[in-house]
Amino acid sequence: MKIFRSSEFFASLIVLLFTVVFAAWVYVNWFNLSFFVGDLFFVHWVGLAATIFVAIMVPVYYVLKHKNPKKMKLLLRVHVFGNLLSFLLISVHFAQNTGRLSAFPSKLGDGLVLFLVMSIIVATGMLVRFGAKMKFVRYFKLVHSYAVVVFYFMMAFHVLQFLLII
Ligand code: HEM
Ligand code: HEM
Repeated sequence: MKIFRSSEFFASLIVLLFTVVFAAWVYVNWFNLSFFVGDLFFVHWVGLAATIFVAIMVPVYYVLKHKNPKKMKLLLRVHVFGNLLSFLLISVHFAQNTGRLSAFPSKLGDGLVLFLVMSIIVATGMLVRFGAKMKFVRYFKLVHSYAVVVFYFMMAFHVLQFLLII
């Protein structure tokens, strides 16, 4: 329904706006979120939890979509808002790390690329979901789906580096 869809659109925009404002605040005040929980910075746990959600929900969405097409609307809503909230958490991880390492730009690398890939996935997801009348939507859908492969690859690289394996 159109009304439903536009309220979903505004809710998504609000989440994204909040993400930008909150991430900017975290970047400037990175030291406020620089405390440990166990062996890791709190924001690393936050990034880890959000990444696990995204990484697991991609195949889950794919399987459920084909098994249960009648539940597609609900599934898509979980896909959109689950991933937008994960993006919010990943942005917090990103902002604290880039703020903390801003004096050492050479330490930034794969994490930056990973964030760029995530941003492309979110931007194209928004266009596919809410830009129905746009000419190029099917190309955005291709970018949205295939960027996920790059996401998995970069993610593995980032985590292996964190585990000091590479
Ligand atoms: C899409 C998800 C993620 C993004 C966009 C991201 C982004 C970043 C960025 C930009 C940095 C700064 C250093 C760099 O550029 O490499 C960083 C550092 C770090 N990330 Fe992530 N990250 C993500 C997921 C994760 C996950 C799942 C973990 C696992 C716990 C993790 C652990 C770390 C650690 C430990 C550092 C600190 C490295 C250091 O101090 O040198 N990140 N991340
Ligand atoms: C950020 C993490 C995200 C990942 C990893 C991701 C991944 C994917 C993948 C792999 C597909 C293809 C599924 C298939 O072919 O069955 C897909 C479809 C789709 N995604 Fe995302 N997505 C993300 C976020 C979003 C967001 C934030 C939105 C909207 C705001 C969105 C909207 C859509 C739409 C509309 C489809 C097409 C639905 C369909 O036809 O099945 N995605 N996504």
